[in-house]
Amino acid sequence: MATLQISSSLFRSFFLTLCLFVIPSLSSDSDPLQDFCIGDLKASPSINGFPCKSAVSASDFFYSGLGGPLDTSNPNGVTVAPANVLTFPGLNTLGISMNNVELAPGGVNPPHLHPRATEVGTIIEGSVFVGFLTTNNTLFSKVLNAGEVFVIPRGLVHFQWNVGQVKARMITAFNSQLPGAVVLPSTLFGSNPEIPNAVLTRAFRTDVTTVQNLKSKFAG
Ligand code: GLV
Ligand code: MN
Repeated sequence: MATLQISSSLFRSFFLTLCLFVIPSLSSDSDPLQDFCIGDLKASPSINGFPCKSAVSASDFFYSGLGGPLDTSNPNGVTVAPANVLTFPGLNTLGISMNNVELAPGGVNPPHLHPRATEVGTIIEGSVFVGFLTTNNTLFSKVLNAGEVFVIPRGLVHFQWNVGQVKARMITAFNSQLPGAVVLPSTLFGSNPEIPNAVLTRAFRTDVTTVQNLKSKFAG
């Protein structure tokens, strides 16, 4: 009897260990189970993504929204046009998306991260200082010119700064149909409802006036 109990607990441990090794760890969107599934954005999201549209036509597989030029006259001097599942439902279930990013001279794409994707990008025109930070605060950065490529590992904080005299343009791509973007300045100082001043003054080791001033720039 005792032997039986020992061998069944041994079997359980062996089985659990085996599961840890054979269950695949998913580091990006899961693979599609059919050729395509054009997202029906009007259907209520009842699955991890969007249900498939029933009537499909050629136009579902093409998107013209990345051509630019974009208006970059805003406080950061950057505008991003996304081709993700929300603008281009043909990407639904395919695990990829792209952005057209344009930066005015001196413009900054503020520090941000993508919770669901690694980013790869190439400079189309201009000179861009590209940087990302590791989880132990090491900065990796380089000035890139047309044709050069960068990669930002999933979830790491990164930014781009146009260091040239003319508009810069880059195309970025993601291994997610909807990578998401947590933009640190607006997330921290423009949230709704607001993060209490007590939290932000302590976190940034500063005073209420400074925090209020930052909040006023990102409100709404
Ligand atoms: C650039 O960092 C982008 O997210 O497109
Ligand atoms: Mn990015």
